Amino acid sequence: MRITHLFLSNFRNYKNQTIEFDSDIISLCGKNAQGKTNLIEAIFFACIGKSFRTNKEKQLIRWGEEFSKIILFANNEVRTKKIEVIIFNNQKKIVKLDGIPIKRIGDVLGEVPIVFFSPDELKLVKESPDERRKFMNIHISQTNKKYFYLLSRYEKILDNRNKLLKTTKDFNVLKENIQIWDKALASTGIKIIKERENFIKDIQPFASKAHEYISGGEKLSLIYKTCEVDDEQQFLKKLSKSLEKDFKLGYTTCGPHRDDIDIYVNEEEVKSFGSQGQQRTVALSLKLAELEIMKNVTGEYPILILDDVFSELDETRRKKLIKFTSRCQTFITTTDENLCEGKIVRVEDGKAN
Ligand SMILES: Nc1ncnc2c1ncn2[C@@H]1O[C@H](COP(=O)(O)OP(=O)(O)OP(=O)(O)O)[C@@H](O)[C@H]1O
Ligand SMILES: [Mg+2]
Repeated sequence: MRITHLFLSNFRNYKNQTIEFDSDIISLCGKNAQGKTNLIEAIFFACIGKSFRTNKEKQLIRWGEEFSKIILFANNEVRTKKIEVIIFNNQKKIVKLDGIPIKRIGDVLGEVPIVFFSPDELKLVKESPDERRKFMNIHISQTNKKYFYLLSRYEKILDNRNKLLKTTKDFNVLKENIQIWDKALASTGIKIIKERENFIKDIQPFASKAHEYISGGEKLSLIYKTCEVDDEQQFLKKLSKSLEKDFKLGYTTCGPHRDDIDIYVNEEEVKSFGSQGQQRTVALSLKLAELEIMKNVTGEYPILILDDVFSELDETRRKKLIKFTSRCQTFITTTDENLCEGKIVRVEDGKAN
């Protein structure tokens, strides 16, 4: 898959911008605060349906304007895809796929698959389990739309169950009323767990290989941590066992919303014991492994986006990374002219040339 054209209107600091991408490696080069990440953010937004920087979509609209528009064209050997997004100040956003308005953002996910990496992605290794769940969710949703809808259903059910836990005063009444939510939670939850289990199984060998290659020999291993249930029945049992605890706390303590991935390098937990460099290499290896398993599932490589990554890596690691970038269309942003690869697009004050 390749992105061929991007049109921006009132997106962040871009007024009106048209860019054609006719190359496999594109370096967006420019000084700080000129609009390099903004441009990447527009691509991400069109492909994933949200920003990696903010949950407040209105922030994407150029200051003082009423709406913001992104149009992205991509193609592979078989067909062309057009994604159009319009974000408004005072109404719901409009998303169109090949000219047809779509209701659910899930319908656009995976149409143009991408893998995004920036120094900020270190949080994938260092920060709370929420980051690792997001990583699994974005990846699996891009290759499996059903998963995305399953996840939205699960979140709604969980919300309802938690509301009931918070508002019911009598434990016996709760026991009676919660059954319907437990059943729904268990039946969707177990499917999410199975998908994640498979994802970790699939990504493990590629992530280890990438990590070994980039680090020069370190062993990486991933362990999926979830509530220990094999099927819906076991899930239900677990929910009923923890009901008293949940009642006291006012929220659901068991389920895939509490999942995590334990990451080990040479058998030490990298979150607590890894150096900054090791953690960075792990995050990068996970992203590169994503490229490979997406290729396995969809038959083609996704688009790789590297925001400000090169400046953080030493030369050996940079060279190793470039080897990977030759497999797929890659967008690189950098302030350093010397680190540019492929075709150079210069970004200055909200204009790209
Ligand atoms: N909604 C908006 N409207 C207009 N300008 C905006 C908006 N949001 C952000 N900006 C401007 O965009 C600039 C940042 O652009 P961006 O993050 O793309 O910089 P960059 O080229 O990636 O820089 P760096 O090299 O520091 O990462 C900010 O300086 C800000 O003034
Ligand atoms: Mg930037």
